[in-house]
Amino acid sequence: MRITVFGTGYVGLVTGTCLADAGHEVMCMDIDGEKVARLKRGEIPIYEPGLEALVTENVAQERLRFTTDPAEAVAFGTLQFIAVGTPPDEDGSADLQYVLAVAKTIGEHMEDYRVVIDKSTVPVGTADRVQAAIAESLSKRGADIAFDVCSNPEFLKEGAAIEDFTHGARIVVGTDSRRVESLMRECYAPYNRRAEKLMFMDVRSAELTKYAANAMLATKISFMNEIANLAERLGADIEQVRRGIGSDPRIGYHFIYPGCGYGGSCFPKDVQALARTASQIGYEAQLLNAVESVNDRQKTTLFTKLNQAFDGDLKGKTVAVWGLAFKPNTDDMREAPSRALMEALWEVGARVRAYDPEAMEECARLYGERQDLELVDARDDTLEGADALVICTEWKSFRTADFKQIATTLKTPVIVDGRNLFDPAMVREAGLLYFAVGRGDSLQVGRRQTH
Ligand code: UDX
Repeated sequence: MRITVFGTGYVGLVTGTCLADAGHEVMCMDIDGEKVARLKRGEIPIYEPGLEALVTENVAQERLRFTTDPAEAVAFGTLQFIAVGTPPDEDGSADLQYVLAVAKTIGEHMEDYRVVIDKSTVPVGTADRVQAAIAESLSKRGADIAFDVCSNPEFLKEGAAIEDFTHGARIVVGTDSRRVESLMRECYAPYNRRAEKLMFMDVRSAELTKYAANAMLATKISFMNEIANLAERLGADIEQVRRGIGSDPRIGYHFIYPGCGYGGSCFPKDVQALARTASQIGYEAQLLNAVESVNDRQKTTLFTKLNQAFDGDLKGKTVAVWGLAFKPNTDDMREAPSRALMEALWEVGARVRAYDPEAMEECARLYGERQDLELVDARDDTLEGADALVICTEWKSFRTADFKQIATTLKTPVIVDGRNLFDPAMVREAGLLYFAVGRGDSLQVGRRQTH
């Protein structure tokens, strides 16, 4: 099958590469010439385990190609995936200008039947707007060519995107056309062998499914963070509570890890966009608004705990930060809790000495040269001369921390752990004050210090 993918960002590149790897002929189009040149050489602009090798292999096999030419891209595939960005507008709703620009391009160049597939996360009703944009371009040319628009949201996690694409729980397709149904079956056949994963539904339900899935997962996280905050104040341990509730199959263990708030390119943006969609149609989405505000508050807890441990005196202090990415196995710092922490520290005149296994370049790109930020090459180099340690991301390599060394190196023996990586008793044994999330034990250590 010949397939075109517009956009070589995260979603577009993973989609195009995995479909090529399944044996389809894929052309990925991007307006960024430099990016396309790099991709042709097999260099990928994002960090995603396994992706670079898969791109290189499929380019070599000539199943995957890249172009900046819109006419060539539209002529290539019967299926035209739109996987361009939908960044949040000023008010939090999704900005559709890039999606609609692709729709316009398709209408300007198509000569034959095309299925246009919304892969980007787009508000309910977008397929209708894409349909209208293509129809308008066609009518300007005086062309009368059949096409269909369908919705096929992605459920990829950064760091596990290839696995999620090839072994995802479901493949959702929103369409009311039999023709589209059979073309999409053919497209996904290689990934639909072991069990029937394809779910056909109407377009609006498919569009809403994507938002509902992310909002549900974000809700689980905010719920757990709320309970963690309660546990902390009630002298209970959220990690024991987590095991206690997760064992109920109706609740399950997934996505109930408390922490310093969810980040990334999806949850914050999608929860906000769905809440804005609701308010635009005159419905106040109380739960979604609460999920968002609980998360905003949770992102401030690292700073609050540290500030309390230092009695509000962080000016001139140096804080070691472990983890900058919003989660492990990515270099992505979008909406990362580390950013809320660092910005709050700079605000009060503290310095940051940070390490992340993958996100250092991204951090330098975001914050540039600044006196109060030092990026060091190794986890333990952050500790030299630092007053305290804060952990923002649960990278595996942080779990093997040497508490004795931390206790002797830090000027003040304080660890604020936003990911509950350690057994509080072990940390305490090394003579450290340990402030984790929702762990009654750690709160008592704090109490002991302040009283
Ligand atoms: C998410 C969805 O999982 C994916 O299906 C969707 O397509 C895009 O959004 P992603 O943003 O890559 O994927 O990361 P994910 O692993 O879901 O984590 C999101 C955030 O939630 C991270 O900041 C993570 O630290 C946080 N999180 C996750 C928790 O705080 N607790 C948990 O139990 C799980």
